[in-house]
Amino acid sequence: MFSLRALSIKRKLTLIIMTASSVALLLVSAGFVAYELVTSRQTMLRDLSTLAQIIGNQSTAALTYQDKAAAEEILRALSVKQHIEAAAIYKGNSLFARYPADVPAAHLFPPHPEPAGSHFERDRLTLFRTIFLEGEPIGTVYLKSDLAETHQRLQRYAGIIVLFMVASWLITYLLSVWLQRIISAPIFHLAQTAKAVSTAKNYSLRAHKRAEDELGQLIDGFNEMLTQIQQRDAALQQANDDLEKRVAERTRDLEWAYNELRRTQATIMQQERLKALGQMASGIAHDINNALSPVVGFADLLARSEPSLSQNGSKFLRYIKTAGEDIAHIVARLRNFYRRRDEREALAPVRLNHLVEQVIDMTRPRWRDIPQGRGIMVEVRSDLDAALPEIAGIESEVREALTNLILNAVDAVPTGGNITLRTRVASAECAPLFLSPARPAPEHGQKERGALQPTHVVLEVADTGIGMDDKTRERCLEPFFSTKGQRGTGLGLAMVYGVMERHEGKIEIQSELGKGTTVLLVFPIRSAPSVTAPGTGSTPAPTGLHVLCIDDEPLLRELLKELMESDGHQVVVADGGQAGLEAFRDAQRRGQPFDVVITDLGMPHLDGRQVAKA
Ligand SMILES: Nc1ncnc2c1ncn2[C@@H]1O[C@H](COP(=O)(O)OP(=O)(O)O)[C@@H](O)[C@H]1O
Ligand SMILES: [Mg+2]
Repeated sequence: MFSLRALSIKRKLTLIIMTASSVALLLVSAGFVAYELVTSRQTMLRDLSTLAQIIGNQSTAALTYQDKAAAEEILRALSVKQHIEAAAIYKGNSLFARYPADVPAAHLFPPHPEPAGSHFERDRLTLFRTIFLEGEPIGTVYLKSDLAETHQRLQRYAGIIVLFMVASWLITYLLSVWLQRIISAPIFHLAQTAKAVSTAKNYSLRAHKRAEDELGQLIDGFNEMLTQIQQRDAALQQANDDLEKRVAERTRDLEWAYNELRRTQATIMQQERLKALGQMASGIAHDINNALSPVVGFADLLARSEPSLSQNGSKFLRYIKTAGEDIAHIVARLRNFYRRRDEREALAPVRLNHLVEQVIDMTRPRWRDIPQGRGIMVEVRSDLDAALPEIAGIESEVREALTNLILNAVDAVPTGGNITLRTRVASAECAPLFLSPARPAPEHGQKERGALQPTHVVLEVADTGIGMDDKTRERCLEPFFSTKGQRGTGLGLAMVYGVMERHEGKIEIQSELGKGTTVLLVFPIRSAPSVTAPGTGSTPAPTGLHVLCIDDEPLLRELLKELMESDGHQVVVADGGQAGLEAFRDAQRRGQPFDVVITDLGMPHLDGRQVAKA
C-alpha cells in the first residue's frame, strides 16, 4: 500500500509543493468562477431590464390605441437577440401581444402578468416590468431569456482553468524539483555523512554547511556532536591502550614471578636433596673412617713394632696400609664436600682474576696439549673485569673448584670448541639468581644496572659444548652422578657445590643440549679479616707428654694409645665423655694434670664438644 511515510524527503517536498499550489490554484479559480457567475447574472438582469424598458416605452402607443399588430411588430424586433426565448405585452390582466407569435400561448407565456420583478430559474431568467404612461400603469412587459451565454462562458472558463492547472502543475513540478534541493540536498548530505561515520567508525568526517538557516544549525550541531564523540573515542582508546599496557606489564611481572618461584622451588628441592645426600655421605664416611682407622693404624703399628716380619709379611702389610690410606683419602674427600666451614678456618683475600689466569695455565695440558695431539682445537679465553674486588675465601678450594669446571668444560667439547672464563660484579638487587632474566623493567624510574651497588662477584665458565638435558642439569651436583661412565667419578661438581656452600656463595648452571653450558660461581663481596699465614717453620715434635685419650670406639682408643706410647708419651684412655671428665679432674686433684686431651667429637651421652666446654 502507498505510504506517505516511506517516501523520500525529495518526494515529500515535491508532493507538498504540488498539493499546496494546486489547492491555491483551485481556490483562486473557484473564487473567480463564483465572481464571474454573480457579475454575469447582474449584467444579464440589467440588460434585460433595459430591453423591457425600451419595449415598454415603444409600445405605449400601441397599447393606448389597442394596436395589437404594432405591439407584435415591436416584439418581433427581439428576434436579433438570440437568447430571448419569449416576450409578451399584457394589457390589464390579459395577454395583448406575444413573441414568438406562432407558438401556442399556453406553452411559453403566463396567462396573467405578475407584479414587476425578476427571478432566475435553473437555466432561464424571467422578468415582468410595468409600462407607465404619464405615471399611470397601462400594461406589463414580460421577457424570458435563456442562460446559455452564461453557461457557455463558464464552460470556457472551466476549460481555461483546467489548461492553466495542467500548465501550472508542470511548471510547479519542475520548479519544485529544482527548489526542493535547497532543503533536501543538505539533509541528504547529512544523512550520507552520518551513514559514512557509522559504517567506517570514522569520527573525523564532517558535514559541510551550505547556508545559515536551521539546516545550517543542524549541521553545526551534528559536527559538534562528532567532535565530542571523536574526543571521547580518543580518550577511550587512550584509556584502553593504557589498560592493555598495564595488563601486559602485570602479566609480564606475574610470569616473571611465576618463573622465579619455579626456579626457587627447584633450587630449594635440589638443595634439600643435596643436603640429604651430603648428610648421608658424611655419615657413611664417618663410619667408614672409624672402621678404617684401626686397619691402617694397626698395620702401621705392626710394621713399626715388629721388625722381624718376613719380607712378604712387611710387603703385604704395606699393601694393606696403602689400600687403607687410599680408601681414607676418598672418604676424606667425601666428607670434605659437605663439611661446614669451621669458624676458625681462615678466610683470606682472594684475587679471582689472578686465580683464573693461574688455573688456565695449570690446566693447559688438559685443554690444549692433549686435544691437540688428537687434532682437536680447544680455545680458552678470559674476559676479566679489571676492577674486580677481592673476595674472602679459601684460595686452594676455589682453585680446585675452578679446575674442576674447566676439566668438565674440556670434556664437553670432544670435537673442539671455545671455553670462556669471565669475571664480573653483580648486584643481588638486580638479579637475585644472577642467571634469571632480569626482572621486567617498569615503565619509569628504573635504576641503571651500573648504578646499583655491586654485592657479588661472579665467576663464569662458559663452553660451546654438548650441553646438558634437563635431567642431567637437575642432578649434576649430586655426588657420584656422572654421565661419563668409567671416565667420570661424579664428584667434581659435588665438590664445587661444597666449596660454594662454605663460601656462602651460589652455583648456578645454565645449559642447553647441543648449545653449551655456563656455570656461574657467585661469591658475596665481603672483606676478609687479614690473616696471618700459618707458621711454616717446623717446630720439633714434643715428647713425654701426659695425654688423655677419650673415644667410645675401643679399637680406636687402643690404637691411639699404642701409637702415642710408641712415640714416648704417657697415655690414659677413657671410653666416654663422662669417664674422660672424671679422669681429667682426678689428675688435676692429684697434681698431675694432662698436657693434652684428645677426644672424639661424636659420642653418646656427653660428646666431645661438651667435654671441651666443661
Ligand atoms: N660443562 C659441562 N657440559 C656438559 N655436561 C656437564 C658439564 N659439566 C658437568 N656436566 C655433567 O655433569 C656430570 C657431573 O659432573 P661432575 O660432577 O664433574 O662429574 P664427572 O665429570 O666425573 O662426570 C657430568 O657427568 C656431565 O654429565
Ligand atoms: Mg668432572
